[in-house]
This record gives sequence, C-alpha cells and structure tokens, in this order.
Amino acid sequence: MPEIKQFKHFKGVYCIGSGNRTTLLTKNLVPGKIVYGESLFYDKDAEGNKVEYREWDPERSKLGAALMREVSQISIKENDYVLYLGCSTGTTVSHVSDIVGKNGLVYALDFAPRVLRDMVFVAEDRTNIAPIMADANKPDTYAHLISEVDTVFMDIAQKNQAEIFIKNCQLYLKEGGFGLLAVKARSVDVTRYPKDVFRQIRALLEKEMTITDYRELDPYEMDHAIFVVKKKI
Ligand SMILES: C[S@@+](CC[C@H](N)C(=O)[O-])C[C@H]1O[C@@H](n2cnc3c(N)ncnc32)[C@H](O)[C@@H]1O
Repeated sequence: MPEIKQFKHFKGVYCIGSGNRTTLLTKNLVPGKIVYGESLFYDKDAEGNKVEYREWDPERSKLGAALMREVSQISIKENDYVLYLGCSTGTTVSHVSDIVGKNGLVYALDFAPRVLRDMVFVAEDRTNIAPIMADANKPDTYAHLISEVDTVFMDIAQKNQAEIFIKNCQLYLKEGGFGLLAVKARSVDVTRYPKDVFRQIRALLEKEMTITDYRELDPYEMDHAIFVVKKKI
C-alpha cells in the first residue's frame, strides 16, 4: 500500500506517488460516497482509525490541474468560506468541500438548472455546500444569500470572464483574501493564440488586483490558465 502524505505545503490536500506519477487526494468528508466516479484510498490516523480519501482528477478539475502545475498556493484551507462561481455538477466543489471541512462553507453558484440539480444532490450529503442558482455576471442578485468569503474561485466560460471575476471579488472577497480565476482562452476569443488571450486577461486584472501567481494548465487542460490574485490595498 503506497504511503499517503500531505501534498507539498497544501494543508487538506494529500497525495500518493511523486512527480508526474502523483495522485492527488482529499480526505472524504462523507466516507463511502463518491461524486464523479473517483477512486477511494485508505489509511489509518494516529489512533488507528480508518481514514478515507478520494482521488482528485486534474484532468477534470482546473484547481487540481493548477496544483499539478505547481501553483504556489490555492488559498483554500480548513474552516474557510469560498465563493465558487461555475460549480457545474460539483466535481471540483466536492474537493473544496473536503478541504474546508464541516465548519467551512462553499457557496456553489451556477446559472444552468440542469447541472445545479446534480449539485443539489451532492449538497444533500455535504452540508458545507450551499448551491445557488444565479448569473455570476449579476453579483448584486445574490447579495442576500452570501457573506464575505476568504476565497473567490471562478471557472466559467464567458467572453467577459475577467470583468465578472473582478466584480465578484470587489463585492465578496475579504480584505486579505485571494481570488483564483481559471481562464479558457477559446471562450474569450477563438481566433487568437491562447497566450495573447492570457496577456489580455492579465492586463485587465492588473488594473484592479495584484496578481500573485499564474500557471498554464496544459497538459491537463489545454489552452487554459489560472490566475491567483489579491485585492489591491
Ligand atoms: C467548465 S464548467 C465548470 C466546471 C467546474 N468548475 C468543475 O471543475 O467541476 C463551467 C460552468 O460555468 C457555468 N456558467 C457559465 N456562465 C455562467 C454565468 N454567467 N453564471 C453562472 N454560471 C455560469 C456553466 O453553466 C458551467 O456549468
């Protein structure tokens, strides 16, 4: 049985193996239940109790891909409140839910009823997820549903994704909190080279935020990048 250890300095993220053969894991908040067909792994804690982990597939999660591409931080940790824009059916949200634990909270927002229905099923087991059906481009419309958060994570394929992200960070990100924006180049402009699109997004973000890290996500997610930002002080 390979050893399960913490993944680098990321508390709440675990792994087996190393380098390209790393399998990312999170501790399953709801033992015995899986969310997207992921494999389960087991270990024992210091008292000899069985601990269950879920595999985190970086080819199905831009946050997982960012970890594999050695992003310096994801900012999400135990007890945090996270606003997750573009939750879809909850693949990545479920791992964020594992990391923040039962005293943290993930506001999981999407505007598509079909995917949000599946998200609601996931949230039935995971009581630290609050699904919200809303348009991330209209952040005022959900002000009554959420509080300030430690992290804003956004993964929505929209042409004006940088603008939507900045609006949400300005309204909901705590002083000192971090924002993570996953960018799909082809959603912004299908005719341009991804690197040109990423440069354009960087310039937009830099007007309002301080960029602390940036990673391109290939080969896990082709033509995608992730920006890590803080509010300007
Ligand atoms: C690539 S998927 C997200 C996958 C998810 N982050 C994961 O890793 O499991 C993008 C999602 O963004 C949602 N979306 C796109 N535009 C949106 C908007 N303006 N407001 C809310 N959700 C939006 C789509 O419905 C879709 O479910």
